[in-house]
Amino acid sequence: MKFNVLVIASALLASASVAMSATITGFAKADCTGTKGKSFNVKPNECSTLRGDSAKSIRYSGVPNQIKFFISGPHDICTRANLTRGGGSGCATAPPGFNWESVLIS
Ligand SMILES: *[C@@H]1O[C@H](CO)[C@@H](O)[C@H](O)[C@H]1NC(C)=O
Repeated sequence: MKFNVLVIASALLASASVAMSATITGFAKADCTGTKGKSFNVKPNECSTLRGDSAKSIRYSGVPNQIKFFISGPHDICTRANLTRGGGSGCATAPPGFNWESVLIS
């Protein structure tokens, strides 16, 4: 019995740590269409910049609570969110004339 409880507890811990990491994928065109870029794992409260891989739209999944998107330019390193979405998965398109440059999840 004791063994079973331990196995269940460690299985729960393992799935919780997997859920802590979200995945983002950049796309060259709006609404997650066009050329697909690299996929990144992003961690909560860590600014993830796409650098040379800035994207017109980003598909995201596994977001625990919230994901913020930042456009290229003076606010690219997670200093002023242009768009905030809730947890889960979806696709976010940058405003006209801009690309997404960084994201921050929590
Ligand atoms: C997002 O960026 C666009 C282009 O700079 C701007 O017009 C819009 O007001 C920004 N939205 C927010 C919430 O900052």
